[in-house]
Amino acid sequence: MKIAVYPGSFDPVTNGHLDIIERASRMFDRVIVAVAINSSKKGLFSRQERVELLEKVTARMANVHIDHFEGLLVEYCARQSAMAVIRGLRAVSDFDYEYAMYQMNREFDKGIDTVFLLASREYSYLSSTIIKEFARYGRSVAPYAPDAVNQALLSKFGHNALESN
Ligand code: PNS
Repeated sequence: MKIAVYPGSFDPVTNGHLDIIERASRMFDRVIVAVAINSSKKGLFSRQERVELLEKVTARMANVHIDHFEGLLVEYCARQSAMAVIRGLRAVSDFDYEYAMYQMNREFDKGIDTVFLLASREYSYLSSTIIKEFARYGRSVAPYAPDAVNQALLSKFGHNALESN
């Protein structure tokens, strides 16, 4: 059984993440999407909210499971018997950070490799940070995030989803 872990902040999940999840689910028998709190980022959604949104938007994918973890990613992967970490790459600007993370994770556990999936063109500029910024000012982010996420974002910022544009 080939198991992969797709870790991230997912604050909140975007269509770009969803595209990576779908593609990874065709490559592995089981994909665990694991919410981690990135200590260098200030979060908008709680861990529970992020998990619930992910559960909603991946419900149709039978081999995708949602979880969360604390501590080191490589230790979590070992507990899950995962052979690979999935990470999405958008632009060259992602590369340095991802490369460092890959090398460090390899140092700690040679048994776990990282599979990088390049973002599909339509999502290559998308990020949770950008969609949060639009939603903060009442703009619908419907083309960039699943409906449940769009609604959750607008209501988080006190906007009515029906009135937004
Ligand atoms: O979506 P993000 O914020 O880019 O995800 C980063 C994340 C959560 C994958 C990374 O911060 C992580 O793996 N955190 C767990 C702690 C860990 O193992 N850190 C060492 C990575 S070198």
